[in-house]
Amino acid sequence: MPEADARDDKMFYEDIPWTASGFFLKGSGSYDWGMSNRLARIFRPETGRTVMLAIDHGYFQGPTTGLERVDLTITPIASQADALMLTRGMLRSTIPPTHRGAIVVRASGGPSILKELSNERIAIDMEDASRINAAAVAVQVFVGGEYETQSIENMTRLVDAGFRYGIPVLGVTAVGKQLTRDARYLGLATRICAELGAQVVKTYYIEDGFAKVTSGCPVPIVMAGGKKVHERDALEMAYRAVQEGAAGVDMGRNIFQSASPSAMIEAIGHVVHGGEPPAAAYDRYCEATRSVPA
Ligand code: 5RP
Repeated sequence: MPEADARDDKMFYEDIPWTASGFFLKGSGSYDWGMSNRLARIFRPETGRTVMLAIDHGYFQGPTTGLERVDLTITPIASQADALMLTRGMLRSTIPPTHRGAIVVRASGGPSILKELSNERIAIDMEDASRINAAAVAVQVFVGGEYETQSIENMTRLVDAGFRYGIPVLGVTAVGKQLTRDARYLGLATRICAELGAQVVKTYYIEDGFAKVTSGCPVPIVMAGGKKVHERDALEMAYRAVQEGAAGVDMGRNIFQSASPSAMIEAIGHVVHGGEPPAAAYDRYCEATRSVPA
């Protein structure tokens, strides 16, 4: 077995962008037309970034706060996101087929919050993902988790099926209660996803070393939101993530649990696509929140 590579003198050249490959997205220049087109539906070609709204929490924790009535709280703001990440059940039951934004469908699942979460299986056939016109499928990868290998196999099987249908795979990393979310762990988890074929990787922001994580990953990284924090802090985190190499965000609770999800997603959009500093984006959020009729 190879020795663990824990050296501290690794060279990530954080100030040099990963060599471009003929497509606006990092590491994405060698895909078929359909897969490239789907990626261009998720990521705006003019900025190379995305604002994804994650509302798939119910697949393991039931009616999450803010998502009790997706028809009332999310459907009206769904078009503000570049992409909506959700389960096929919520999509078919609640999101009108007139919706024009990209759909990223949850493709793994099984255990509820009451059980070992890493024991997931593939939860959708790629044929059905294609039937609902998914722009990507999302799969949880539990590096260091009890069912690490099984979750990685879920991802690699989806990657194989995704290449057959031209549907990219979003590998979601660093989920788990006992994990130390530092640059070494996130660098390991994101790189494993990319090396094994994920076209996009989702991971958490960390204050120390996030640029190393994005630099060491050859495909786009989108930042996960995590538990609800103050709107000002969530905007700051999104700003730093994109400044440090993320190709956008995939946020849930920090949008749909905010006082005004619509104003929050708008403000996040200005940070991600416009590079607006977080203080200005927060002012924008407050202004928009004040102008929402009671
Ligand atoms: C983790 C997921 C969820 O979709 C997402 O990350 C949760 O979003 P947030 O943490 O921003 O509320 O992939 O299971």
